[in-house]
Amino acid sequence: MNQNIEKALNAQIGFELYSAYLYMAMTSYLKSINLNGFAHWMEIQTKEELAHALKLFNYVTERGGSVVFETLKKPRNKWESPTEVFKDALEHEQIVTSKIHEIVDLALKEKDHTTNAHMQWYLNEQVEEESNVLGIYQQLKFADNSPQALLMFDRELAQRVFVDPNAATAAGQNKIN
Ligand code: FEO
Repeated sequence: MNQNIEKALNAQIGFELYSAYLYMAMTSYLKSINLNGFAHWMEIQTKEELAHALKLFNYVTERGGSVVFETLKKPRNKWESPTEVFKDALEHEQIVTSKIHEIVDLALKEKDHTTNAHMQWYLNEQVEEESNVLGIYQQLKFADNSPQALLMFDRELAQRVFVDPNAATAAGQNKIN
């Protein structure tokens, strides 16, 4: 595997794991203020990040590369409100998107068409990730600390269901095998 690509993908695996770390910290905060629907939504977001890391991990190892883990940065642990949590989450997702763009740029520069193709899934996923978080952030701002609106929203977010993006791949592989 191209060394520059391997290094960039390793860094991205670490960043996806850090994303899970950050979202788990947010889950803990949301639980601490008894917004359990918001906490449930964020717990699923944590699982999504772990799945993003695993999908890249599988890709690197399947291409004959090595995954090397680095120290994860300590995430922020306290917020003032759920609105501030989702503002942070939106900013975080925008950083993730820029990192995915950098990997695609690198893959094009190195003429690594397979990595470019693999990263297209992440590009599309980021559209959804940013849109989900932006939607919640905007609705929270609209609710403007109304306890009634917040509790209704909390019930709605409690309905989120985790869909593992790696499960479809595994099922497809089983079919081929
Ligand atoms: Fe893995 Fe939320 O981006």
